Amino acid sequence: MSQRQIFVTTALPYANAAFHIGHIMEYTQADIWVRYQRMRGNTVHFVCADDAHGAPIMLKAEAEGITPQQLVANIAAGRPQYLNGFHIGFDNWHSTDSPENVELSQDIYVRLREAGFIDRRVIEQFFDPVKSMFLPDRYIKGECPRCGTKDQYGDNCESCGAVYAPTELKNPYSALSGATPVIKQSEHFFFRLSDPRCVEFLRGWTQQGRLQPQIANKAREWLDSGDGLADWDISRDEPYFGIPIPDAPGKYFYVWLDAPVGYLASLKNHFAKQGGDVAAFLADPGTEQVHFIGKDIVYFHCLFWPAMLHFAGTPYKVPDNVFVHGFMTVNGEKMSKSRGTGISPLRYLDLGMNAEWLRYYIAAKLNANVEDVDFTAEDFLARVNSDLIGKYVNIASRCAGFITKRFEGALTQDFGDEGATLLKAIADAREAVGSALDGREYSKAIREIMALADRTNEYVNANAPWELAKQAGREADLHRVCSVALNAFARLTRMLAPVMPATAAKVAQLLNHDLSRWDDEALVARINPYEHLMTRVDPKQLDNLFDKPAAEATLPPAPAPSQQKNAQQQTHSDKASAEDAAKDFEPFISIDDFGKVDLRIAKIVSAEHVEGAAKLLKLQLDIGEDKPRQVFAGIKSAYDPATLVGRLTVMVANLAPRKMKFGMSEGMVLAASDEKGEVPGLFILSPDSGATPGMRVR
Ligand code: 2FM
Ligand code: ZN
Repeated sequence: MSQRQIFVTTALPYANAAFHIGHIMEYTQADIWVRYQRMRGNTVHFVCADDAHGAPIMLKAEAEGITPQQLVANIAAGRPQYLNGFHIGFDNWHSTDSPENVELSQDIYVRLREAGFIDRRVIEQFFDPVKSMFLPDRYIKGECPRCGTKDQYGDNCESCGAVYAPTELKNPYSALSGATPVIKQSEHFFFRLSDPRCVEFLRGWTQQGRLQPQIANKAREWLDSGDGLADWDISRDEPYFGIPIPDAPGKYFYVWLDAPVGYLASLKNHFAKQGGDVAAFLADPGTEQVHFIGKDIVYFHCLFWPAMLHFAGTPYKVPDNVFVHGFMTVNGEKMSKSRGTGISPLRYLDLGMNAEWLRYYIAAKLNANVEDVDFTAEDFLARVNSDLIGKYVNIASRCAGFITKRFEGALTQDFGDEGATLLKAIADAREAVGSALDGREYSKAIREIMALADRTNEYVNANAPWELAKQAGREADLHRVCSVALNAFARLTRMLAPVMPATAAKVAQLLNHDLSRWDDEALVARINPYEHLMTRVDPKQLDNLFDKPAAEATLPPAPAPSQQKNAQQQTHSDKASAEDAAKDFEPFISIDDFGKVDLRIAKIVSAEHVEGAAKLLKLQLDIGEDKPRQVFAGIKSAYDPATLVGRLTVMVANLAPRKMKFGMSEGMVLAASDEKGEVPGLFILSPDSGATPGMRVR
C-alpha cells in the first residue's frame, strides 16, 4: 500500500485561559492517532495554534491593563508544560494572530467575494455608548421578556428557558459598563451559506459517508430544516481584536472566520520552518486533511469551514474528515469545581501522577462515536492498577530478571510449539488492532491488547518460570518460557506505543529493540537489566486530584519549625531598614492560622453602585461556583464600576456571610491602601495572567 500523507489538527484553544482536562483528552486522542499513522510509515503534519482573536480576549486584556498580544503571549508561554507533560507531540504551535493567518484569511475572503458569496447588509445591534462598541450577545443582560427574571443574558433565560433576541430583553444593560445600550445600525458582511451552490455542495460533502453517522444526521437536519441554512455574519465593527477585512475600513473578521484558517496558518508556518511547499502539499490530491474537534463546534467545522474552503478553490482543499468526540465527564456529570469534580491537568502532573496512566485510561474509554468519556476514580484505579500494571507490566517484571541473572541477558529463539503459537497469535492480531486505532476505536484496540496480555500471563502462569528456576536441569525450559514472554511483551508494547510513547521508549531501551515500526517482526535478542517500568496509582493521589469545593479546601502541610523560623527571620531583616513601618505590622501568626483564610481568585462579573451607600459597590464575583457571590466592597471612591467588570481579583471566600443594610455580603475583596494617607486611593489586587476564577491563593 502506498504511504499516506496527512495533515492533522486539533481545535485551536482560545488564548485566554490555560488548558483544562477536555483539551488534554482531545489532544491525546489525536496524538495517539498520529503516532499510529507514523508507525505505519505514513507522513503526518500535526499542528495546532492559539485562537487569539475576538471580543472576550480584547476585553480581558483591557481589564488586565495589557495588550491582547501580550495576553496571548502569556498564555502561549504556559502551553509547553502541559503538552510536554502529557507527551502531546504537535509539530508546530502557532497563533491565529500571525502574518500567515492575516494573509490566508484575507485571501480566502477575497476569493469568496469574487465568487459571489459575500453579501453586505445593514443590521441593527445594541451599542454600548460608554464603551463605544457594539455589544456581543453575551455582554447584554436584562429582564427576561417572558418571565421577567432579572440579569438574564442576551440570548436565553436561565430561569424559564426562553430563547430570544437581545433586543427583546426588558431594561437591557451592558454587562461591560452597566450603561443602557442603544440600538444602532451598522453594515455587516455575510457569507451566503444559503446560496444554492453552497447547499448543494454541503449536501454532497456531509452525506458521502465520511462523517460519523450522528454527525452526518445532524448536518442533514440542518440542511433540511424549514428555513434552510442562514447566512453567516462574518464581520465585526471596531474596536475588535481581529483581522481587518480588505477594502472595508473599521471592519474585522469575526473570530470564527479566521480561527479555522489558523490551521492552515500553522501548517504554513511549519512548512516555512522545516522547508517545503505548503501550497503544493495541499494541492496534492493524495494529501488528507483531518480535524479532531469536540461536539460543540460541529456547525463551524462541517458547514462553514468546508464551504469556505471549497468555494475559495485551489490550493485550498476541503477537509477529508472531521473527527468529533464527546466531552469528558466525572462520575457521569459535567465537571464542576464547586461540586469538587474538576480535574486540573497541571495538578495531575504536580501530584506526580504518570501522564501515561491518563493516556491509557482515555484510550481504554474512547471509541469512534460522539460519546462522552466518563472519569471515575475507581475505574481509573482499576484500569491502571489491574490492567496496565497487573497484566501488562507484570509480564516483563516476572520474566526479565531470570534472563539477566541466568542467561547473561541473551534470549533463545527456540520457543517451542506453545510459545510459537502465542507469539503468532499476537502478530496476527496486529492488523485488527491497527485498524481499530486507525478507526479511532481505541477501546476496542485496548481490549484486544489486554486479551493478549491475559493469554501471555496464562502461558507464564502455566509454565511457572519461578518454579523452573528452582529445579535442576530445567535451564532450557526456563530460558524458553522467559524468552517467549519477553517477545510477547515486545509485541504488546509495540501496539501500545501510540498510547504510551514514553513507556514504549523505556521498553525499547530495556529490550534493546526497535519498537517504532508497526509491522516489525524482529525478535528480541539481548536485554538490559530490568528497571521498573511504571508504578501503581496510589489511591491518595486520586483523593487530591479533584478541585476541592470551596468549603473543604485544604492547605499544604505546614513547613517544619526550622523553616518557619527562617521565614520569620527573613521577614525581620527585610523590614530592618524600615523600623517604623515594622512596628505597624500585626503580630506573627502561625501557618495554621493563615491557613484558615481561604483566598480565591475571583472574576468580577458585575459591579454597580448601591443606592444610598456612600462607599460601597455591589460586586458579583465568580469563584468557580455554580453562581457568583454577592459582595459589598468599600471601593466606590476609587473605582468606576464599568472598569471593574471582567477583571480578576482576590477575595476572602470563607468570611462568614454578613447581612448588611443593602443585602447579604458573601465574602470580602482585598484592597491595598496607605494608612498614613500619603498615597491617596484604594488598590484592589490583580493576579498574573493565567490565573482562573476559583484558584486558591496561598
Ligand atoms: O471552541 C473553541 O475553543 C474554539 N477556540 C475552537 C476553534 S477551532 C478552529 F476553528 F480554530
Ligand atoms: Zn424567563
